[in-house]
Amino acid sequence: MQVLESISALRALRRALRGSVGVVLTMGALHEGHIALVRAARAENDFVLATIFVNPLQFGAGEDLDKYPRDLPRDLAMFERAGVDAVFTPTPALMYPPGFQTMVRVEHVTQGLEGARRPRHFDGVATVVAKLFNLTQPDAAYFGQKDAQQVVVIKRMVRDLDFPIRIVVCPTQREPDGLAMSSRNVYLSPDQRARASSLYRGLLAAASAYDRGVRDPESLMHAVETALDPAFTIEYIRLNDPVTLVTVEQATHTPMLLSLAARLGSTTLIDNLLLPFALNDGSALSEILGG
Ligand code: PAJ
Repeated sequence: MQVLESISALRALRRALRGSVGVVLTMGALHEGHIALVRAARAENDFVLATIFVNPLQFGAGEDLDKYPRDLPRDLAMFERAGVDAVFTPTPALMYPPGFQTMVRVEHVTQGLEGARRPRHFDGVATVVAKLFNLTQPDAAYFGQKDAQQVVVIKRMVRDLDFPIRIVVCPTQREPDGLAMSSRNVYLSPDQRARASSLYRGLLAAASAYDRGVRDPESLMHAVETALDPAFTIEYIRLNDPVTLVTVEQATHTPMLLSLAARLGSTTLIDNLLLPFALNDGSALSEILGG
C-alpha cells in the first residue's frame, strides 16, 4: 500500500492509473464502518484509494477538532489489511494553504438536521469533498448511510457541479447491541455506552410501527422517544423526504428518512433509518437516499 503525503505524488499516481478507481474518504480513527466502505470499493474497482484527513473546516468553534481521535499507524495497518491500494494523508497546511478562500456551499439540503445543529458544518464537508474529488478523480466514491444528510449533500453537489462520479451508499455498520459504529463512541463512559444502544431500539420501534401501518409523523416520532433511555437529551427526531430533506408533515406512503440526534453528557450521537425498513440495504439504499 502506498502512502501519499503530497499533491504531486497523488497526481503522479492518478495519471499512471488505468481502470476504475474507487475512493473512500475518511477522517481516520477507523472502525468496521469505514472498512465496509473499503470492501464495497474493492469489490467494484480496479484500484482503491483512501484518504485520511481531519478536516478543520467542518468543525465548529467549541467542537471536538482538537480531541478528535487520531492514530495514523493503526489506521494505515487497517486500510492495508482491508486491501486499500493507496492512502492520501494530507496536512491542513497542504489542503488550506495561506490565502485559501473558496468554499462550496450547497443551499437547501444543508439547512435542517445536522446543519441546524452545526452551522456551516456542511460548507466544510462540501468544500473538502470537492477538493478530494478533484485530487483523486475517482469513478465512484463510497459513503456511509450513518451520515445520511452528508450523502444527500454530496449527491446534490455532484449533480450541481457535474462531477463525473458515481456515489455509492453503504449500510450503517453496527455494534452487536445495535449502536452505530462511530469514531466518537470512544467519548462514552461505560455507563453511557450501555445506555447508547437504546438509540437504535428507538429507530426500530418506529420501523415496526411503520410496518404495522402507522404513517402519521407524530406517532412514528413518539415511538422513537418512548424507547430512548431517559439519560438521553433529545436534540431532534425528524421525518424527512430522503431526497429533498423537506419535513414530512402528513402521513405519506412514499419512503421517509427518520433521523435522530441525542446527547449523553457532552457527546451527541446521531443515527437514522429509511422507512420502510427494507430500504436500508444494498441497491435500494443507494438509489433512495439523495435520489
Ligand atoms: P468519517 O466520519 O471518518 O466517515 C467517513 C465515512 O465513513 C463516511 O462516508 C461515513 O458516513 C462512513 N461511516 C462512518 N460510520 C459508519 C458506519 N457505522 N457504517 C457505515 N459507514 C460509516 O464523514 C466523514 O468522515 C467526513 O465528513 C468526510 C466525508 C471524510 C469529509 O471530511
